[in-house]
Amino acid sequence: MAQLMSGKIVSAQVRENLKKETEALIESTGIYPGLAVILVGHDPASQVYVRNKQLACEELGFHAFEYKLSENTTQEQLLDLIRVLNKDAKVHGILVQLPLPDHLDEQSVLYAIAPEKDVDAFHPMNVGKIMIGSYDVLPCTPAGVMELLDAAGVEIAGKNCVVVGRSNIVGKPMAMLLLQRSGTVTICHSRTKNLAEVCAAADILVVAIGKPKFITADMVKEGAVVVDVGINRLENKKLCGDVDFENVEPKASYITPVPGGVGPMTITMLMKNTLRAAKLQNGIKD
Ligand code: GUN
Repeated sequence: MAQLMSGKIVSAQVRENLKKETEALIESTGIYPGLAVILVGHDPASQVYVRNKQLACEELGFHAFEYKLSENTTQEQLLDLIRVLNKDAKVHGILVQLPLPDHLDEQSVLYAIAPEKDVDAFHPMNVGKIMIGSYDVLPCTPAGVMELLDAAGVEIAGKNCVVVGRSNIVGKPMAMLLLQRSGTVTICHSRTKNLAEVCAAADILVVAIGKPKFITADMVKEGAVVVDVGINRLENKKLCGDVDFENVEPKASYITPVPGGVGPMTITMLMKNTLRAAKLQNGIKD
């Protein structure tokens, strides 16, 4: 039987600390961390995420600035808003909810966000800083995974770490974070040969490919630590991860559930980044 790595529990603990830190900041400086969230169009999943971000801001005492723009917003209109927010001292973090409608160019939108306000850590400046190990903020999902591994006391140094998925948002930064902690890291993807064998050699297996129950028990080593970043909705409306939890769980030493694993960590990490950005923009280093 594996031990569950609960994102609900760890997230609540991190939020408690963030709340105390925020109260101390407000009391000593009068600065409220401010997060601007921009949503273009009305993708239902994105609307839920944006609402949850706003609720998290309320819970922690941050100022939330929400911009719900029409589906027909032009690139120039969106860039203009970002330019205004870049200059607004009350806004410490700017997040443009992805995916954007097809007519907008995601890359130039993300590049337009001032790097110090980029609380997603998607700007090339922040991506580069992660590469060299001298960063201010980390992308929320990989940061949440690291927090879960640390809370469970999982040793990373020297371990065989396999990341399945090579996205810019999860797979690539995840691999860099594990490497920085001296893991021996392999990144797998759709063209990897002998994927099952590579996965079965992992001490720590992190899966982010968006295919329900893709990782089966034969792909997992006895005693491995398994982190499932996938959130897939099945035809019966139930959520399920990229890992066949039922059959993998008995082999693993630690495993994340879906839902309730990595998911709850992501917004908490966004809040952590926003608080840090607020401090750095006001010359407070800790
Ligand atoms: N859409 C899905 N995940 C994310 C995320 O982490 N950040 C942003 N900006 N959009 C997303």
